[in-house]
Amino acid sequence: MSKSHLELTNVQMAFDTKDGPFVALENVDLKIRKGEFLSLIGHSGCGKSTVLNIVAGLLQATRGGCVLDGHEVNTPGPERAVVFQNHSLMPWLTVYENVELAVQQVFKKSMSKKERREWILHNLKLVNMDHALDKRLGEISGGMAQRVGIARALAMKPSVLLMDEPFGALDALTRAHLQDSLMKIQQDLNSTVIMITHDVDEAVLLSDRIVMMTNGPAATIGEELHIDLPRPRNRVTLADHPEYVRYRQAVLSFLYEKQRFPGKEENEQEKQTADAEVPVQEDNSPEVVNKSEESPVRRIA
Ligand SMILES: Nc1ncnc2c1ncn2[C@@H]1O[C@H](COP(=O)(O)OP(=O)(O)OP(=O)(O)O)[C@@H](O)[C@H]1O
Ligand SMILES: [Mg+2]
Repeated sequence: MSKSHLELTNVQMAFDTKDGPFVALENVDLKIRKGEFLSLIGHSGCGKSTVLNIVAGLLQATRGGCVLDGHEVNTPGPERAVVFQNHSLMPWLTVYENVELAVQQVFKKSMSKKERREWILHNLKLVNMDHALDKRLGEISGGMAQRVGIARALAMKPSVLLMDEPFGALDALTRAHLQDSLMKIQQDLNSTVIMITHDVDEAVLLSDRIVMMTNGPAATIGEELHIDLPRPRNRVTLADHPEYVRYRQAVLSFLYEKQRFPGKEENEQEKQTADAEVPVQEDNSPEVVNKSEESPVRRIA
């Protein structure tokens, strides 16, 4: 039995398309410890949501698989709450009812009706949506709906929280407030979090580890970066922290120097990167583990 809390082993995801199989992911290996905050970062279309959907049990890998606490993941489950890229709420229900649906599913037996109501209100308050309890989804903005999606996921007290660009649609102030709340909640609950983001600062601020994906097709894990910054983290004091700046630079270098040509073969990328004029800061770089050397990209068909 696996000792890891959450483990993806040799995952391949090939989609059937009218032009034959399309290999989105190849050789994805990931071990995540209980309570770890992991960010997935990579260019658009590289396969981040596909990885998340496999852990959520919404997609079945075409090879390899995902094991959570010793059990293979084949279906969705309430211990793995998902905040989707497009929030995915029930449009015919109100803000309150959307969260209630999830809370009923998880806590129907363990909480009284009154406790459930308080818990729903607590989570909607956390995302500043307690002023719009009776509004339907059509009556609120995209950013508001995203916040309801976050409240719904948090209200499930999940063992694993899967978040697909959860703060993408939010204004800077709300985003900062929710990032801080998420850090606190995650510490309190010791939830394992996998968060997809395009925001390098967000990834460094929140994560214990940043997993950087290569460009698809046949995307895999390119590099991993352990973020060894003390917690609780404060965005204002961290901004000038030399380690913070170096972590940030390592992720930017991966995205905009090493993986800056989406759709190109890896060796072509390396060649073009070597020819590129953008200066790479070699010294003082934090330790980056290059995973793509261990797991060469292969394709089928
Ligand atoms: N059901 C599907 N059928 C065919 N191809 C798919 C399917 N779902 C995803 N893909 C392809 O797999 C690749 C990875 O998609 P995915 O949605 O995981 O990317 P992503 O990294 O989340 O991108 P973004 O940052 O834009 O959200 C893309 O090339 C996408 O077109
Ligand atoms: Mg996506």
